[in-house]
Amino acid sequence: MRRTLLLVVLAQLVAVLTLASPSAAQEKKTRSAEPDVVYVPTPHDVVDKMLQIARVTKNDVLYDLGCGDGRIVVMAAKKYGCKATGFDIDPQRVKESRENVKKNNVEKLAEIREQNVFELDLSPASVVTLYLLPSLNVKLIPQLEKLKPGSRIVSHDFDMEGVTPDKVVHMTSSEDNVEHTIYLWTVPLKKENE
Ligand SMILES: C[S@@+](CC[C@H](N)C(=O)[O-])C[C@H]1O[C@@H](n2cnc3c(N)ncnc32)[C@H](O)[C@@H]1O
Repeated sequence: MRRTLLLVVLAQLVAVLTLASPSAAQEKKTRSAEPDVVYVPTPHDVVDKMLQIARVTKNDVLYDLGCGDGRIVVMAAKKYGCKATGFDIDPQRVKESRENVKKNNVEKLAEIREQNVFELDLSPASVVTLYLLPSLNVKLIPQLEKLKPGSRIVSHDFDMEGVTPDKVVHMTSSEDNVEHTIYLWTVPLKKENE
């Protein structure tokens, strides 16, 4: 009798453990994707210049694709009073950005979403900021082409092969004493092969 009871308890334990531990496939499905590029922040004076070059006003809606600690979104909301949304795939960056938004009291204008930038509808934005990689900028072209005419795209340090920029500005940041480049494009994009 005691042996039967022991066997039943053991069988129940195995069943509970099997249900509680997801299969490798399930785990892979629920884990968020890896970032396509590591986190490196844009110096604040370069952020300031990017927003100037994009001619941001309070009527704009800014999207920062891969927002890091949220500094671009925070400066856009604080300095220009515009709506700004930051997107990042890394939960740690999302947490830091949300803390940054809160610390700077811009919750009414700024929000942070944990999302993959390649799955976004960019059409609500009138300004898009980028600090990704040249290949990722090119990968974003189909989404960027759907922005409203007159929307501006600014990229820190990285070009977008095949699309002619309206402006390329070089500046030396007082934070790192390094030369940075800022690219500006305006929608509709000027594609070189069209
Ligand atoms: C170089 S940092 C730029 C941070 C910020 N925009 C700035 O200029 O200070 C790039 C950021 O993009 C995020 N990232 C990388 N791939 C991503 C993806 N597919 N979707 C959303 N965020 C991504 C990284 O987690 C990182 O925080």
